[in-house]
Amino acid sequence: MKMCASGTLIRLNQDLWHGCYYARSDANDVARVEDRTFICSLSKDGAGPTNNWEDPREMRRRLKGLFDGAMRGRTMYVLPFSMGPVGSPLSQIGVQLTDSPYVVVNMRIMARIGLPVLAEIDKDFKRVVPCIHSVGAPLSPGQSDVPWPCNREKYIVHFPETREIWSFGSGYGGNALLGKKCFALRIASNMARDEGWMAEHMLILGVEDPHGEKTYVAAAFPSACGKTNFSMLIPPASFEGWKVWTVGDDIAWIRPDENGRLRAINPEAGFFGVAPGTSMETNPNAMATLARNSIFTNVALTPDGGVWWEGMTKEPPAECIDWQGRLWTPEIAKNTGAKAAHPNSRFTAPASQCPTIDPAWEDPSGVPISAFIFGGRRASTMPLVYQAFNWTAGVYIGATMGSEMTAAATGTVGKVRRDPMAMLPFCGYHMGDYFRHWIKMQRHVSETPRIFHVNWFRKNGDGKFIWPGFRENMRILKWIVDRTRGRATGRETSIGWMPRYEDIEWTGMEFSPEQFAELQRLDRAAWRAEVVGHEELFIDLHDHLPSEIVYERELLICRL
Ligand code: OXD
Ligand code: MN
Repeated sequence: MKMCASGTLIRLNQDLWHGCYYARSDANDVARVEDRTFICSLSKDGAGPTNNWEDPREMRRRLKGLFDGAMRGRTMYVLPFSMGPVGSPLSQIGVQLTDSPYVVVNMRIMARIGLPVLAEIDKDFKRVVPCIHSVGAPLSPGQSDVPWPCNREKYIVHFPETREIWSFGSGYGGNALLGKKCFALRIASNMARDEGWMAEHMLILGVEDPHGEKTYVAAAFPSACGKTNFSMLIPPASFEGWKVWTVGDDIAWIRPDENGRLRAINPEAGFFGVAPGTSMETNPNAMATLARNSIFTNVALTPDGGVWWEGMTKEPPAECIDWQGRLWTPEIAKNTGAKAAHPNSRFTAPASQCPTIDPAWEDPSGVPISAFIFGGRRASTMPLVYQAFNWTAGVYIGATMGSEMTAAATGTVGKVRRDPMAMLPFCGYHMGDYFRHWIKMQRHVSETPRIFHVNWFRKNGDGKFIWPGFRENMRILKWIVDRTRGRATGRETSIGWMPRYEDIEWTGMEFSPEQFAELQRLDRAAWRAEVVGHEELFIDLHDHLPSEIVYERELLICRL
């Protein structure tokens, strides 16, 4: 009520969008600010070359100044939250202080909050991660507020040794919902390294076959590669009796159990998904999830009190109010290129509403992980799917993962950005040490998960995608499951194991052996360039690079 009165939230038409609200951010506060994100470890070397670093003493002094009086005139909320089911041995607790009610209502969806968490803290004086957040817009007596207060100056700061998070100036997503990227990835990756577990930027899904046998996999993809869609995949009609269950769409915390089996939880309780491109065609499960009790930020508002974004329907509405509060029509869009929804507009929706949410998604002991999948957006070079020879070869594949930049970044189309394990913006310490931690994890497990690489985005000579993707990805997922269960064959190549045409289930799909061969083709010249490209990242990490990674590269070169 209060937020509707202040203009921060607009209540949507409750007959169409039950329990849903709409927010429009400041035009300068629309995404994570990677260049304002800092890992302030005691030594610069601890943060490594892929993170911004500043001396923690100097940063504390600056933050103290910024936070002094920053919340004046606002209400400060104290938000105890659990990442993971309350009381699970795999969960962690944080307490966020914030002067943003928008953050509170979003955190209420994204994490478990409130009294049960307080009780958990009291139970055995659990250690909590202190998270302090201010939008940095104090109000003088009598000064009227704006719908989206924020500050031009932004700081997203992590102190890994003391496990603290300080966030100033932004109210948006990963900058402000501190349980997500700041805690569950940057701080948790530090905890995980010290305590022998893994905090990964991965979705978790379970594949159930017609006999009811379930196999869980975790998969890492950089942004804009369809992670949420993959986590909610609906198999093609010809896959009778097969079902994909969703455990999480963004983050996985993974730990060996007492038998040495890796088990994973989704530390989050909701989905903070990118809205544009989400539709009944691309992801009906997401559409069902966000239909109620959800918050929409920076999408467009329709005249009937609903929401719309590019790609939601084939036919755009005749008119709507865009994410900046201006009139938008398809005609205006044609003439000016204006988007109705910001490309990074989001829905915040409870995971429990997902039609495919796994019955075990809140199991305090997690779900057993049989395989890891790495993937990127690659127009060439990378086959549709291959399997690493072993764990260290798989770690090498994850460490050298890359994704092509899209037309949005001028002059760099097709350039591959290395994004190891999709953790480039999220690893809270030195990336070379992170590779070492991955390699070492195998020593703590009794059953080594298999590692795969997929690429849904290979293009032919005419620049067209060869693989249809979406539901058809189930065919590849089935081969992955069958490989981990020791049921499927493949052929050995210089980069790993690949399925032959006959190893894939094709019923219900027209796809010729020639097309498949094109998708799987190993272009030796391209692979030489690829291996040279790996060196770019390795040079920066050189003095922390595990010898296994160096040897894996040598072996790959020899095989090629
Ligand atoms: C996200 C991201 O918002 O990865 O999940 O950027
Ligand atoms: Mn993410």
